[in-house]
Amino acid sequence: MLNSEMVRAHFPALGSGAIFFDNPGGTQVVQEVIQRMAHYYQHTNANHGGSFYTSRSSDAVVHESRQAMADFLNAARPEEIIFGQNMTSLTLHISRSIARLLKEGDEIIVTRLDHDANIAPWLLIAEDRGCQIRWVDIHPEDCTLNMEELERQLSSRTKLVAIGYASNAVGTINDVRRAVQLAHSVGALCFIDAVQYAPHRTIDVQELDCDFLACSAYKFFGPHLGILYGKYELLDRLTAYKVRPASNELPDKFETGTQSFESIAGTLGALEYLSWLGTTFGEEYIPRYQERFSGRGLALKQAMATIEAYEIDINTALLNTFNSVPGLHIWGITDPARMSERVPTFSFTLHGKDPEAIAEALGQENIYVWNGNFYALAVIERLGLEEQGGVVRVGLAHHNTTAEISRLHEALHRL
Ligand SMILES: Cc1ncc(COP(=O)(O)O)c(C=O)c1O
Repeated sequence: MLNSEMVRAHFPALGSGAIFFDNPGGTQVVQEVIQRMAHYYQHTNANHGGSFYTSRSSDAVVHESRQAMADFLNAARPEEIIFGQNMTSLTLHISRSIARLLKEGDEIIVTRLDHDANIAPWLLIAEDRGCQIRWVDIHPEDCTLNMEELERQLSSRTKLVAIGYASNAVGTINDVRRAVQLAHSVGALCFIDAVQYAPHRTIDVQELDCDFLACSAYKFFGPHLGILYGKYELLDRLTAYKVRPASNELPDKFETGTQSFESIAGTLGALEYLSWLGTTFGEEYIPRYQERFSGRGLALKQAMATIEAYEIDINTALLNTFNSVPGLHIWGITDPARMSERVPTFSFTLHGKDPEAIAEALGQENIYVWNGNFYALAVIERLGLEEQGGVVRVGLAHHNTTAEISRLHEALHRL
């Protein structure tokens, strides 16, 4: 079981007294990230590929971070990990390469539950190549994806299925394993947006058998950096949009220009923190994972299992708070028995109140929450909420506590 005090001591920003419920928009960083980044600038700041100490040290830390990310996602090899500015840029970048595999009349499946970063790139390449887009709807009553519709939309023309692992608006976890199987059953590729899932649960790209999976380090306690996983053979086969002198080898061919090496070093710090968390609090999960994982890979699995259990536990307090406020409606799964089907990202509306005014009022009390559509435009429109300013989003991370939820409870009642 996770010890909150020990965990919180790793997050310098938590000392400010503010309550950070803005986690789905970006998390606070741990001390390990700051140390890694400061060390990078002080001792190893140089461009890639030089024949001198700082450049070699810089390349070494990038290599280690890549290996650590491969462990985090359980990629088969580190060359399957591509670093970039953020998930959106990486997805737009690789979408151009994927577009070259498409021809007129081909089809791409996207969902109404996704962040636009896993919709717009596919709409754009569909337009470029004369492809059809097929949408998968949600069940509005609990904001789960209509998997039967996904199945119905598939055909021999389907070339790509783009699906989120967890919704950044309503928290639903999708059955991406099934989506990959369905995509593969018609010979299509599957692209998973794991940005909102990565801070909360373990990811195993080999078990999922997905073709691509993207996430962002700044959502899992690291710096602003995007990460794209792709199957080696696939990445190798794709044409990269790159400059001619740059290497044709993986991962370099997709890492265009000069990378944010300091952020890549910082991401290693975030994974070192998670490894610490796993080995310190996650002993009970060793039997679950030790057959397939060892060393850092095992520690990271232990970490995410520990985080999952803690978050499901404190979800109950948050649900009780929401349920105690008259006129408050939670959009998404609310059944306490179904908390394993969602991440702790809750969106609500309060009868007669403007979401922005609520976020503003909570902000005045040093409780940070987001309002709006968070670029999850399709689902907010589908729920008919866009015109009225979207929703208020309270997103927990594993450093949040029930004491903080009590302060939200009081503040909401004052509202
Ligand atoms: C589910 C989801 N996908 C994609 C993104 C975009 O990520 P990035 O900011 O790294 O481009 C976000 C950002 O909030 C997100 O929540």
